[in-house]
Amino acid sequence: MSTLYPPLSQARIQGMPAYQALCAEADADYGSYWARLAREFLSWKRPFTKSLNDAEAPFFKWFEDGLLNVSYNCLDRHVEAGRGDRTAIIFETDDGQTRKVSYRELMAITSRMANVLKSRGVKKGDRVVIYMPMSVEGVAAMQACARIGATHSVVFGGFSAQSLRDRIQDAGAVFLFTADEQQRGGKALPLKAIVDEALEGGSCPTLKDVVVYRRTGGTINWVAGRDHWLHELMDGQADYCEPEWVEAEHPLFLLYTSGSTGKPKGVQHSSGGYLLHAALTTSWTFDLQDSDVFWCTADIGWVTGHSYIAYGPLALGGTEVVFEGVPTFPDAGRFWQMIQKHKVTVFYTAPTAIRSLIKAAETVPAVHPKNYDLSSLRILGSVGEPINPAAWEWYHQNVGGGRCPIVDTFWQTETGGHMITPLPGVTPMAPGSCTLPFPGIQAAIVDELGNDVPNGTGGILVVKKPWPSMIRTIWGDPERFKKSYYPEELKGYYLAGDGAIRNAETGYFTITGRIDDVLNVSGHRMGTMEIESALVAHTELVAEAAVVGRPDDVTGEAICAFVVLKRSRPTGDEAKQIANELRNWVAKEIGPIAKPKEIRFGDNLPKTRSGKIMRRLLRALAKGEAVTQDTSTLENPAILDQLAKAN
Ligand code: WT7
Repeated sequence: MSTLYPPLSQARIQGMPAYQALCAEADADYGSYWARLAREFLSWKRPFTKSLNDAEAPFFKWFEDGLLNVSYNCLDRHVEAGRGDRTAIIFETDDGQTRKVSYRELMAITSRMANVLKSRGVKKGDRVVIYMPMSVEGVAAMQACARIGATHSVVFGGFSAQSLRDRIQDAGAVFLFTADEQQRGGKALPLKAIVDEALEGGSCPTLKDVVVYRRTGGTINWVAGRDHWLHELMDGQADYCEPEWVEAEHPLFLLYTSGSTGKPKGVQHSSGGYLLHAALTTSWTFDLQDSDVFWCTADIGWVTGHSYIAYGPLALGGTEVVFEGVPTFPDAGRFWQMIQKHKVTVFYTAPTAIRSLIKAAETVPAVHPKNYDLSSLRILGSVGEPINPAAWEWYHQNVGGGRCPIVDTFWQTETGGHMITPLPGVTPMAPGSCTLPFPGIQAAIVDELGNDVPNGTGGILVVKKPWPSMIRTIWGDPERFKKSYYPEELKGYYLAGDGAIRNAETGYFTITGRIDDVLNVSGHRMGTMEIESALVAHTELVAEAAVVGRPDDVTGEAICAFVVLKRSRPTGDEAKQIANELRNWVAKEIGPIAKPKEIRFGDNLPKTRSGKIMRRLLRALAKGEAVTQDTSTLENPAILDQLAKAN
């Protein structure tokens, strides 16, 4: 098998002409362009002969007759190439201890975990849920699934028992990796106890085994026969597990994300196409070199942690930091202190983190980045939400010392990797703009009928041609996949769900925000319907609820809920107390990230005569704007005054 893939030093794109040449190559022969890259960046057990198959569009297939293994591509091939002693992961715990893991060691840990899966009867195509803290073992659990061809579904450790149960059930998972507890911000937080609650009363009959990584040693309950310690099962296992060679289209993972309905959707990704784009974007967007220390601060529970922690950097044989903790512990200088300590060269984080660290540095001068040696940095990245120009400037000056390009990467859970982004050494930057499409990505802005709109005019963001790392389907719901992403009126274009506008002179893209009922709070995606369902699930108290987003200085958007109770409308302290109860209720139903920042109580909600809630009015009220819109179709205009004020 070929272990030939570009040495990192040759992978970067040198200048705008090189970028344009790649775009031209893709335009001229789209299939051959992606096939060339798939041969260069990945090692195939059996080479593919077909690139794109669009016979069953929009269920596209890429490289379908090729065989490969994702874990082989991320681990074995580097060891075989004599790079086994290179550091793969520099892991830092919440309390500041460091553990370095080489490629050889990561391959052994992964193999043993893969052998554990096999010993429990997990087979190719089975679903495995991973509910683990940020850890070497968390990454290895993902790699272990890939190694045996099991399809993983990582659930973020901040999700509630109810959310975890929904995902286990929807995926039909047979096996679950978790930990006793997670250590974050100096506190031990439960994981296993939440798993126990999720599985209560035989609610997940497909799930046979719960395997527990011992992180804190805290006391936990134990269900004999179902629960096993990871270290005990790993003890007897061999250091090597033969990779299971899978078809390029084999589902590598499901990742649940929010849409416009109450039910999160299981976004299904492939093995070959997905890994290609994870590796390619890590190489081109971050210009990753052998000498780099890469740090993506995301959690493996989100797609960013999949593509830019678990897969992309490892596929390239890079060295990366994996961090267990939070940016504000022991103080808000933690990121800067870690960049200094590990000599991080490429740093990738979210605007919400930057904004909160700006605030912190303004109040506590000791945690300002200027107190740290950040001279190792050469590239900065931003992801998850628009970065406002003020935060961009601060990041550029105070973290990047005015010398590091910032890559503002626009993409989504569904896209698998970067779609629109500057490339370092190529794209002149423009604060607040994600600039130009990644070479080969046919991003465009159209009207409701799929017609191109001129630059300078806002519209709907679409991708005109399929690309290798795109979502394959929604697990168990192909109809919903078609309806959500390939609506008939859009000429077969992929609908991203965002609005965008291109600059009239430069053609640069700026994302103007979601055009559906999806909110972005601290870079976390949440459906308004999901939060509404959680609120009305409190059947004792809540009669009706409507949730909207409003702009927030730190979190980007904040959740504002308008609630009608089954009892009379509360005021004063009583309103505060009930609001608190409901916030905690939502945290329990979905997770703390879904807690509304504000809850306003009304006798009713603004509705049209046909009973439809007028959300645009609620959005204006949440922002504190006077309602200037036409309210003549409103059944009950008087309600607006009541809802305009906080309780
Ligand atoms: C939504 C996708 C991208 C991985 C993490 C979030 C918004 C993402 C940007 C950006 C403006 C952005 C979009 C998108 N978004 N990156 N650079 N500029 N908006 O993935 O949870 O699937 O959310 O995040 O609205 O649709 P996700």
